[in-house]
Amino acid sequence: MNQEVTSSSDDVRADAGVRMDALAPKSQDGAASAATVRAIPDDAMVIVPVRNVVLFPGMVVPLVVDRERSRAAVQEAVRQQRMVGILLQTNREVEQPGPDDLHWVGTTANVLRYVTATDGAHHVICQGAQRFRVLQFLEGYPMTVARVQLIEESAQTSPEIEGRAHSLKERALEILRLLPQVPEELIVALQGVDGPARLADFIAGVIDVSVEEKQALLEMFDLRNRLDKLLELLTHRIEVLKVSREIDARTRESIDDRNREHLLREQLRTIQKELGEGDDTVAEIAELDKAIAEAKMPEEVEKQARKELKRLERMPEGAGEYSMVRTYLDWLIELPWAADATTEIDIADARRILDEDHYGLEKIKKRILEYLAVRKLNPSGKSPILCFVGPPGVGKTSLGQSIAKATGRKFARVSLGGVHDEAEIRGHRRTYIGSLPGNIIQSLRKVATRNCVMMLDEVDKLGAGGFHGDPASALLEVLDPEQNSTFRDNYLGVPFDLSGVMFICTANVLDTIPGPLRDRMEIIQLPGYTAQEKLQIARRYLVPRQLAATGLRAEQCEIGDDALAAIIDDYTREAGVRNLEREIGKVFRSVAVRIAEGRSERVQVGAGDLHGILGARIFESEVAMRTAVPGVATGLAWTPVGGDILFVEAARMPGTGKLILTGQLGEVMKESAQAALSLVKARAAELNIAPEAIEKSDIHVHVPAGATPKDGPSAGVAMFVALASLLTGRAVRTDVAMTGEISLRGLVLPIGGVKEKVLAALRAGIKTVMLPERNRRDLEDIPPDAREQLQFVWIERVDQALAAAL
Ligand SMILES: Nc1ncnc2c1ncn2[C@@H]1O[C@H](COP(=O)(O)OP(=O)(O)OP(=O)(O)O)[C@@H](O)[C@H]1O
Ligand SMILES: [Mg+2]
Repeated sequence: MNQEVTSSSDDVRADAGVRMDALAPKSQDGAASAATVRAIPDDAMVIVPVRNVVLFPGMVVPLVVDRERSRAAVQEAVRQQRMVGILLQTNREVEQPGPDDLHWVGTTANVLRYVTATDGAHHVICQGAQRFRVLQFLEGYPMTVARVQLIEESAQTSPEIEGRAHSLKERALEILRLLPQVPEELIVALQGVDGPARLADFIAGVIDVSVEEKQALLEMFDLRNRLDKLLELLTHRIEVLKVSREIDARTRESIDDRNREHLLREQLRTIQKELGEGDDTVAEIAELDKAIAEAKMPEEVEKQARKELKRLERMPEGAGEYSMVRTYLDWLIELPWAADATTEIDIADARRILDEDHYGLEKIKKRILEYLAVRKLNPSGKSPILCFVGPPGVGKTSLGQSIAKATGRKFARVSLGGVHDEAEIRGHRRTYIGSLPGNIIQSLRKVATRNCVMMLDEVDKLGAGGFHGDPASALLEVLDPEQNSTFRDNYLGVPFDLSGVMFICTANVLDTIPGPLRDRMEIIQLPGYTAQEKLQIARRYLVPRQLAATGLRAEQCEIGDDALAAIIDDYTREAGVRNLEREIGKVFRSVAVRIAEGRSERVQVGAGDLHGILGARIFESEVAMRTAVPGVATGLAWTPVGGDILFVEAARMPGTGKLILTGQLGEVMKESAQAALSLVKARAAELNIAPEAIEKSDIHVHVPAGATPKDGPSAGVAMFVALASLLTGRAVRTDVAMTGEISLRGLVLPIGGVKEKVLAALRAGIKTVMLPERNRRDLEDIPPDAREQLQFVWIERVDQALAAAL
């Protein structure tokens, strides 16, 4: 045997920059290992484990020797002029293979060259000599050493063997003819091989089969069996090559260049099918098939899924549509079709969880518990949909999360703010490129259960319906218990049962929620907190949470009530507690820096320290400044973010009795300004106002924060008071705020949003609040501590307002 067949992967000799050290290994290495190696018995050999080559007798292969023990083995062999034994690892991943990680049959080999490349990698080129079988692995060497038994190849031949060898050579030559671009040398080499055993090993060495199959061939000691096996492999190979040629010819006729890639894939798949090999697509289809069976889909959906799977199967993998269908199937498979076993709602537990997570809100918690109790007693009944309405940061979302916790459900959230296209809720049809299901289905896939609590945030910010269909009506369908068990997402095209979802909506304001939607919901108002309530929330929830977030221990940082109160009054002005929490976080972070730097071990934060940490107070009592001159009155307004104070400013200039109104006032507000002026005129005599003061001047009424539109009748009293103050020259008391609608007869009519307005007054440092007499019944909504801090003046007629304000 004198041919050299090198595995095509890494031909060492072709490497530029390879230093060839002939047979001798580097001397230091050699000396070092020689000193320590015990004598190796004569019937044993040093073993080089390999990961992906099977060496057959006669074959020449380059091996990379990248492991310390292998290097030692090769060097020892070179030094003692012995052969090495090459064994294939059963498990490629193992770095230091032990007896269990190696095949026990291998090939002895002569090391022809030992090469150290310039990059330090070691290569050997070795030639296989003879099969051997491991009898026993020996321990105590710095390399793998095994006692072995050499396997002699029987020299006997028979007609049966000769005949097989002959056909084997014929077939091998046939394959070489079928393959494109076969090197001439290979054909010459094949023809030159003599002896059936050598031929078998030669072919086994070059045939394109897996290493495992090659190892099996190596382990077939019986030559006749080995020849048969090889014949079978070659015959199969020829079939495949022929089929592939045929397909090639056939497809080439029908398909032009543009579809070349398709064609190649098609070919690949056909070949793989022909081979019965684990074609990726076949495996993928099988996987999908299994997944569909396991997805617990309703019958109609499963039918649809199977139909699509069939389509997928027939589609070339490269087709653009392939991935679309694939994505669609993934959606169908991953949606939570089946209902979970829902746990019973434990009302006592639910109460505990609600109390644990939220301070106060007694009425609201009570309502939530009622709602849960009804659901518990009548799970299939049509419970209303809760809708939490209130300013930002008052706990709407976190109540929703608590409800989920209390009912043992997962929590999903869908934001509807700015949604103006029905498709965002209900999905796009699949005919759209890049279409996807709507956000309801998307969030269900995310939580992976259809028995979840789903919070629909900002229903009040739902865009108006237009050209793209009305999102509100899509939402109605989602929420309607009559319809939502067969909710149809445009993308899915099959019904999905939403009846197990517990929907909760949130909104900042009530009046922009589309009417039909509002009718379906049970509105629960969260008006905002008083300073006292905020202090409690901060103490019990926000401070511990922010401490934990900054990694501080409670004893390292103490924040006083005075500091919290100052943050509430001077640094935040809000109905909820979100900014409060943020500011507390800022304080703790600055403390954390001091502690982390080792400047102090324990920090106490009082109101006086806030200036240094949070900067100057953001909210000063503007009321006192603003109302120091006649003509300014403090009104109270209701806004989506809670209540707020507002100033009505009136000024007089020489003119002809015109009324000028500015500050983006709405129609209703303008009218109440006119009514207020008329009322003042009518009382000119009583108020000692000279008639020419009115006739010879223009009056300008302005409501600052001019950029925000304002409307509503509730500033009537404040307008009246501002005008009266202007014309009488008497300033309004700085600590009085007022609200109420006026009639031309001087009556004060009731208004809405009392709680929000009163809380806003309190925040602004007002001491006295004037409210319409007919709002007296709203007093009970106002938290007791707010009631205590304020003085209320109930007015029926505008004249009473003047008495209290001027
Ligand atoms: N009563 C309360 N007790 C304890 N923590 C509260 C309370 N109210 C609100 N919080 C906390 O305030 C933070 C803000 O609340 P949340 O996010 O629920 O506000 P929201 O009403 O959903 O506001 P938005 O309208 O901006 O979405 C949360 O961390 C919440 O836990
Ligand atoms: Mg929220």
